[in-house]
Amino acid sequence: MKDKLFLMIPGPTPVPETVLLAMAKHPIGHRSGEFEAILKYCYDGLKEVFQTKNDVFIYAASGTGAMEAALSNLINEGDKVLSLVIGNFGNRWAKIAKSLGADVQTIDKAYGETVSVEELKAVLDADVNKEIKIVTMTHSETSTGAKNDIQALCKLVQEHGALSVVDGVTSVSAMEVKMDEWGIDVLVSGSQKGFMIPPGLSFLAASDKAYAVYEQCKHPSFYFDWAAHRKAVRNNTTPYTAAVNLIFALQAALEMLKEEGMEKIYARHKKHALAIRSAIRAMGLKLFVEDDNKASYSITSILPPEGISVPDIRSGLKKGYDIIVANGQNDLKDKIFRMGTLGFVSERDVLTAIASLEAVLYKLGYKFELGIGVKAAIESMK
Ligand SMILES: Cc1ncc(COP(=O)(O)O)c(C=O)c1O
Repeated sequence: MKDKLFLMIPGPTPVPETVLLAMAKHPIGHRSGEFEAILKYCYDGLKEVFQTKNDVFIYAASGTGAMEAALSNLINEGDKVLSLVIGNFGNRWAKIAKSLGADVQTIDKAYGETVSVEELKAVLDADVNKEIKIVTMTHSETSTGAKNDIQALCKLVQEHGALSVVDGVTSVSAMEVKMDEWGIDVLVSGSQKGFMIPPGLSFLAASDKAYAVYEQCKHPSFYFDWAAHRKAVRNNTTPYTAAVNLIFALQAALEMLKEEGMEKIYARHKKHALAIRSAIRAMGLKLFVEDDNKASYSITSILPPEGISVPDIRSGLKKGYDIIVANGQNDLKDKIFRMGTLGFVSERDVLTAIASLEAVLYKLGYKFELGIGVKAAIESMK
């Protein structure tokens, strides 16, 4: 039905009407006093969302832009980088580091798994000459639905002395991430996820320790340069033309996030993901990440039942119920489907999605007790 589309992919995510209306204005001058006041609100608000005292830079770029902004301001040719790879996005860090001439070592895990403290400790302990300069990792690995314990992993990196560089694209503003308390050196995120804004902005915060390493970077990025962005943040401006209307959206979204409160937002995402997980189990389907403690609260990856294909489930949800869920990526294409519960998602949306999934599976001939998933979700969210 026209205008009924409900995005349950892990980004872009649904955008609240308040945010859409905030964008639907004539742009204003990006050097005007009026815009400076809006930017000040956004820079302050982002610190609260990132749970940091560090400046948070805003880039007119997607999340990958902020990932490049992290490494291109830190790496000199030949630097040793350790990348923890639990999926496509963990691998993206390794690819970016290689493109900058780094000597990249990886800890590779089977997709669906996470990196344990013991595994990272063994590699860092073996680095007796402290050659590893940067450790990259993904918090919520969107390609699989797994969640690294970045609090524990970053602590180890801190003890070793290297910098932790964390992808929080599908976790910051949705799942608990405490940049300063957890000792994260560089944290990045993107607008089209928990922030409830359309794609086009990304964010980066760097610790003082990371900034000192940046100061030794011989050829930092020009567009993403940290010094230019730090100076701009401190003057409530941007180095280049800002994505003005997306900043209007960011302001409106930050107001909504502030009103709900970060702890409640984390709890909401956890509640929804756990409800989906219990519904899936009740329906007799398998979760790609079986252990709830290792699962993201932003995205849930589900295996189709025997004899029913992922494309049929996805097209059934789209055609019958206007719900879009994501396919698996690369090797996981058509092997799993992924339901995002990131950002502007309510309990009603979760129940609708589970009921619709039940209806689709029923029509596709899957044998199960109708209503059992909805019942499990309701019970889980009580
Ligand atoms: C965990 C994670 N990291 C990085 C990215 C890349 O972000 P973008 O597609 O906005 O460049 C994504 C996008 O889905 C993501 O989910």
